[in-house]
Amino acid sequence: MAAFRAQGLAKRYGNVTALGGVDLEVGEGELVGLLGPNGAGKSTLVKIACGLVRASAGSAEVAGAPAGSATARASLGYLAELFRFPGWYNADELLALHQRLAGSEGGADERAELLDLVGLSEAKTRKVEDMSKGMQQRLGIAQSLVGKPRLLFLDEPTSALDPVGRRTVRSLLEELRRRGVSVLLNSHLLSEVELVCDRVVILSKGLVVAAGRTEELARPRGVEVDTDEGTKLFESARREDAPKIVADLVGAGQNVYGVRVLETTLEEIYLEAVEGETS
Ligand SMILES: Nc1ncnc2c1ncn2[C@@H]1O[C@H](COP(=O)(O)OP(=O)(O)OP(=O)(O)O)[C@@H](O)[C@H]1O
Ligand SMILES: [Mg+2]
Repeated sequence: MAAFRAQGLAKRYGNVTALGGVDLEVGEGELVGLLGPNGAGKSTLVKIACGLVRASAGSAEVAGAPAGSATARASLGYLAELFRFPGWYNADELLALHQRLAGSEGGADERAELLDLVGLSEAKTRKVEDMSKGMQQRLGIAQSLVGKPRLLFLDEPTSALDPVGRRTVRSLLEELRRRGVSVLLNSHLLSEVELVCDRVVILSKGLVVAAGRTEELARPRGVEVDTDEGTKLFESARREDAPKIVADLVGAGQNVYGVRVLETTLEEIYLEAVEGETS
């Protein structure tokens, strides 16, 4: 059974079509990146999954239960893109509030573990209003993990984080994968998605325009060799051609300093998939 499954999911807000019939699945323990330009429908899809927005057509299921049902809501964790916690709570109190809301019996141990996971142990008694944006975002991630959900919806969880914070979240996602937690990650940070996600789904104007494992979407782009004469690109060459290219160059008296087998990056795949759709 999939952790999350959307079939023909559609949403209209008045005459705006936010989702035009989307099929998307997150398997057990899978980390899926949901990408797309501003307004593509990513947050709408996640809000439907969490039961915050009603779909106009199609279906969405969390752990086999209809999105929005008590069973579905009990099995997921959610970090909204534009969240705002009450400023007067400190980090520990905010997590305690969410433990009550989620019915978690993890107590002080769970709160300490979560603050540690997101690197906020030192800020346990700091009020939300006295935290930097990035600290609030890390607290938001900790909040989404209250009650050990098996499925997480993270809507741009690293948009406010510095490079160290992003790496912390990346290792956290890898740790969650080891624990078998399924994640749908909305992000505009393609290099980050490329590093952690098993699979990506690219939305544009409410429709899936590309989907697959990043290595399946990538295409060969040649072999690049650094020589005395500079960097040469052998455009039609593949990995298996590299030894002969190097042997030929060396045979011709050149020194070779570096060899790279090139593939399209996720950024190139993304730009190609949404090209023309956004203009
Ligand atoms: N509550 C709402 N009422 C009316 N229109 C809405 C509402 N929420 C979203 N929309 C519209 O639905 C479309 C999809 O919005 P959504 O927030 O899902 O996009 P997104 O992919 O998350 O974008 P971003 O990358 O900017 O977060 C947009 O055209 C948006 O203006
Ligand atoms: Mg969004």
